[in-house]
Amino acid sequence: MDDDVRRVRDETDIVRLVTEHTQLKKQGVQWMGLCPFHGEKSPSFSVNAEKGVYYCFGCQAKGDAIDFVRETEGLDFAGSVEFLAGKVGLTLRYTDHNEGRSRNRRKEHAECIGRAVDFYHERLLEDPLARSARDYLRSRGYDGDVARRFRIGWAPDEWSELSRHLRMKDDEWVTTGLGGINKRGGQYDFFRARIVFPIFDAQGNAIGFGGRKLPDGEGPKYKNTSDAAEFYSKSEVLYGLHWAKSEAGRTDELVVCEGYTDVIGCHLAGIERAVATCGTVLTPQHARTMGRFASHIVLAFDADGAGQAAAERVYAWEEEFGLRFAVAALPAGADPGDLAENDPDGLRTVIEQARPFLEFRVDRELDRSDLDSAEGRALAVTAAMRLVVEHPDALVRDQYVMRIADRCMVSADEVRRRAETSTRDLAVRGRRVAVDGGGPTTPGHLTPEHQALRLLVHRPDEVTNHLASVLFVDPINQKSYEALRTTPDLHAAMEQAGGAASDLLARLAVDDASEDDPCGVVSRLLFLAAERTAVVLEAEARQAGDLATYQPSISFLRNWVMDLREAVTDFAKVDPLLRWLVNYSEGRVDV
Ligand code: UTP
Ligand code: MN
Repeated sequence: MDDDVRRVRDETDIVRLVTEHTQLKKQGVQWMGLCPFHGEKSPSFSVNAEKGVYYCFGCQAKGDAIDFVRETEGLDFAGSVEFLAGKVGLTLRYTDHNEGRSRNRRKEHAECIGRAVDFYHERLLEDPLARSARDYLRSRGYDGDVARRFRIGWAPDEWSELSRHLRMKDDEWVTTGLGGINKRGGQYDFFRARIVFPIFDAQGNAIGFGGRKLPDGEGPKYKNTSDAAEFYSKSEVLYGLHWAKSEAGRTDELVVCEGYTDVIGCHLAGIERAVATCGTVLTPQHARTMGRFASHIVLAFDADGAGQAAAERVYAWEEEFGLRFAVAALPAGADPGDLAENDPDGLRTVIEQARPFLEFRVDRELDRSDLDSAEGRALAVTAAMRLVVEHPDALVRDQYVMRIADRCMVSADEVRRRAETSTRDLAVRGRRVAVDGGGPTTPGHLTPEHQALRLLVHRPDEVTNHLASVLFVDPINQKSYEALRTTPDLHAAMEQAGGAASDLLARLAVDDASEDDPCGVVSRLLFLAAERTAVVLEAEARQAGDLATYQPSISFLRNWVMDLREAVTDFAKVDPLLRWLVNYSEGRVDV
């Protein structure tokens, strides 16, 4: 209720609240410190205790105590008010009765699981029967302090120790995921003879467990709280988030691992911004949650796992949640947990040196290619470009083209041409996915040649006079272009084009070109054609040993290549180049 919200705001000591995330020093009436929302070296974050507000001169973050909690804890408004109410000891009243009830239910639920955490934890530390568990943990370098820090526990090898200890009502016993009801109507424990790693939500409420068997134990290595439990969903949970969030806030980075022991290992190696998915791949919900705490995400899976993370999804999440993904190059076959044990310095290094997702993938592809032979380099270019074309940003793609060209010692132009083949594969794949069920009908990004054809199909009036055959390299694209140019309608064009060109036209016909920028697409094609032609003329000049004759044309083209790096909005500007290229292709330019 509004009244309660006001009381919570008034009674919260905002300076103390902020100090949990960054140090503040009194300066006049203000308190100043390093901003917890962006990285900085000199303080520009100021707090006014009296007014109960904060403002950052660096990143313009601002608000009151409730906003601060929303940002730092990743809670919604009501959740933030509750969080603060808990701190100042106020009981909230709710305008919506059900809302209050469900929030209370969640709290009680967390309390029950919290008592289970305590029970298991005490067992691990004290029960004589937990000796083998303690020995095992110690063999992995986890002493009592580590067990206490992560509240690690031992679920005894019994059917109903926990249930007898907690004495919960049957329905709650089941909805908390702590156990089940057997045929005779008795409660039994879900975790038995396992080391348990308690899982907390971002605010530190216990919500579930991961249970690891001992080396000689039975069943799967890990058993996790079931998704059927009421407030536990493995597609949302990130193990370790509430321990990680403060360092994540300071560094704007989170490290994602696969397992509980990876997170603990990272902590022991001094990396406190680590979280793990609990027995599942990374989901969009995970990505969204992480985005509330940091914008840089380092994937610390074993090398193959991270390299193979579904690229389309990673790019989509970067876009949607404002994230940047990087990959830590772990040694083959090692996870962060192993590395923390054997080589903690190495772990810190690979995480510090994590490289952008695409860079990691491209370099890995090139590293394992044979770059000493022409054939090997050709294969490498194709394989690497297959990765590059998946990236949605043309400017990013173009920089990788340069990188690949350099390392494989071929012209950037040649590399781009490979990209067109790769994209064609992608287009075919995209279509197959659609037929198989559900996938995208078109890949997100067509080559410039395809974009031009798509425009010619859908918005012919705007582009007809600004295209020419010389702009198309790919024979299928060229055929499609000629068919469109020389026939009155799409139907006739498809008939004339035949084969793969006809397929291509059919696919482009069901695409949407309304968002395309005709002048942008055409100037991109002109850029490519100019560069292509310049490379050819340079080669001819070298062969002829007569640079002088060729120089004017080469300079002319090179100048265009420079100019066309910038966006063009007016066809009039680029038409002269088109005319020149057409003349050249028809042998009417004297070089
Ligand atoms: P790993 O098999 O890589 O285990 O599974 P780990 O984390 O390295 O554990 P240690 O170091 O061998 O003890 C990674 C994660 O996958 C889930 C768990 O969340 C685990 O932490 N998992 C694994 C399961 O859910 N079930 C399994 O049977 C195995
Ligand atoms: Mn491991």
